[in-house]
Amino acid sequence: MDWGKANRMSKVIKPDGNCFYLAMDHGYFQGPVTKLENVGKAAAPLLEFVDALFVTRGVLRAQISPSTETAIILRVSGGTSMASPDLANEGITTSIDEILRLNVAAVGFSVFVGSDYEHQSLLDLAELVNRCEPYNIPVMAVTAVGREMEKRDARYLAMACRICSEIGASVVKTYYCEDFEKVTTGCPVPVVIAGGPKTNNDLEVLEFVYKGMQAGAIGVNLGRNIWQNDRPRAMARALQGIIHQSLTPKQAFELFQTFER
Ligand code: 5RP
Repeated sequence: MDWGKANRMSKVIKPDGNCFYLAMDHGYFQGPVTKLENVGKAAAPLLEFVDALFVTRGVLRAQISPSTETAIILRVSGGTSMASPDLANEGITTSIDEILRLNVAAVGFSVFVGSDYEHQSLLDLAELVNRCEPYNIPVMAVTAVGREMEKRDARYLAMACRICSEIGASVVKTYYCEDFEKVTTGCPVPVVIAGGPKTNNDLEVLEFVYKGMQAGAIGVNLGRNIWQNDRPRAMARALQGIIHQSLTPKQAFELFQTFER
């Protein structure tokens, strides 16, 4: 791997081989999501626990300090909204010039396998990889399902992740599911877990992250289950414990309960 790409990869995958990304990109199609009305304010108390922040260029420029030491993964897909009947009709939103100007560690792009827009979506991923590779920018593919949450099973996710890796993604983000090792073993590049809607049970989040990592994921790209938690710093600290300190869910939950009480 060329020095520049290795340097960027080292910012998004830490020396222990694991990673903790804080996802705050939701506004790109959902608008001002509850507790993410101001990304800069929501992110500030959490950045000390995470390795990278996943945001769009608009939020990055407006609300994140250029002196941040947290790596930035830039969301570069978009083009649809919650008001649209089909969320899969996305494309590339950000030029390679802009990606370079923003000096980001990596970019993230959603792919909608099995949707009416599958062909366009996969060719757009290929185009993004083709534009980014000459400049050593890693691409994180996001296996998006739109509103079709029932798609989140091992058979579908393993296929989607494998396809993204074959097209050239350096990292693939997907959902945790039963038989998750089928997803990770079939994917030749690192897999990270997305969270999905906020759960009602804090221990549940710690458990699925732990189980996902036991099954081969290298970490998470997690949003709502952190910043919609009533104690987001405690949740971020507990997740950091699982990801980088090999804590069990029980140990991490104890940390969550006692942190800053
Ligand atoms: C939203 C995304 C998010 O980055 C991803 O879903 C992780 O966030 P959450 O844990 O809230 O699901 O791609 O468009």
